[in-house]
Amino acid sequence: MTPPKPIVIIGAGEIAEMACEYFDHDSERKVVGFSIDADYIKAPTLMDRPVTPLTDLTSHYPPDAFDAFVAIGDGQLNRLRRRHVDLCKAAGYQLASYVSSRAFVWRNVVIGENCFILEHNVLQPFTTIGDNVTLWSGNHIGHRSVIEDDVFMASHVVVSGFCRIGARSFVGVNAAMAAHVEIACDNYIGMGAILTASTEPDGIYQGNPAERRKISAKRFCRVRD
Ligand SMILES: CC(C)(COP(=O)(O)OP(=O)(O)OC[C@H]1O[C@@H](n2cnc3c(N)ncnc32)[C@H](O)[C@@H]1OP(=O)(O)O)[C@@H](O)C(=O)NCCC(=O)NCCS
Repeated sequence: MTPPKPIVIIGAGEIAEMACEYFDHDSERKVVGFSIDADYIKAPTLMDRPVTPLTDLTSHYPPDAFDAFVAIGDGQLNRLRRRHVDLCKAAGYQLASYVSSRAFVWRNVVIGENCFILEHNVLQPFTTIGDNVTLWSGNHIGHRSVIEDDVFMASHVVVSGFCRIGARSFVGVNAAMAAHVEIACDNYIGMGAILTASTEPDGIYQGNPAERRKISAKRFCRVRD
């Protein structure tokens, strides 16, 4: 079988270093370097690999020979990561996903592109994970639940069965939701929030039972559309 293409990581911060470490030691992908806007380059190399300005990405790493992985956090309610994904796709790259060998992924789970799924996530039967989704360590994604595109989920979240997490939402550590709850798009779910009912778009929800705060999630996350 042909080995997968080597990848260039888009990003040069902590998440990029984490991605490099995981791809290096728990995947068949070879990481050849990093790339980020020239303004953010602090050193010419990172983890002994070159850091290339984004303007030189395609000349250094032609998309027919390399894939990309965008390793950026939840900045601007996940829009920063999405913008870089779109930029890579427009340049002709295919986007890799990383799924930890220590995650439990049932046979019929669907996982999109540019996903970052770390150790001890449990993805039960018939769950669907969209594109550009980060599941940090130890989440439970219950049967038939759907995680839409561009979601960032921190650790130890319990998503019960038949739930839906709306696009671009952030879910903080130790949050939990009852079966059939739908988190709307652009939500910011605080750590430890207990969601007994579905939510409205662009809200911050926190507490037990979770309540909506007055401030909009997009404003809180300084979104610039
Ligand atoms: C919900 C959250 C966004 C609020 O942030 P914030 O507005 O900066 O919070 P503040 O510290 O100013 O607190 C505002 C009020 O909300 C309360 N509060 C803050 N976080 C809370 C939470 N998770 N649950 C319940 N109440 C919370 C505070 O006690 C405070 O109450 P008060 O006004 O009565 O004193 C934040 O606490 C949070 O949960 N972030 C997610 C953290 C996380 O999971 N990170 C993952 C690592 S990637």
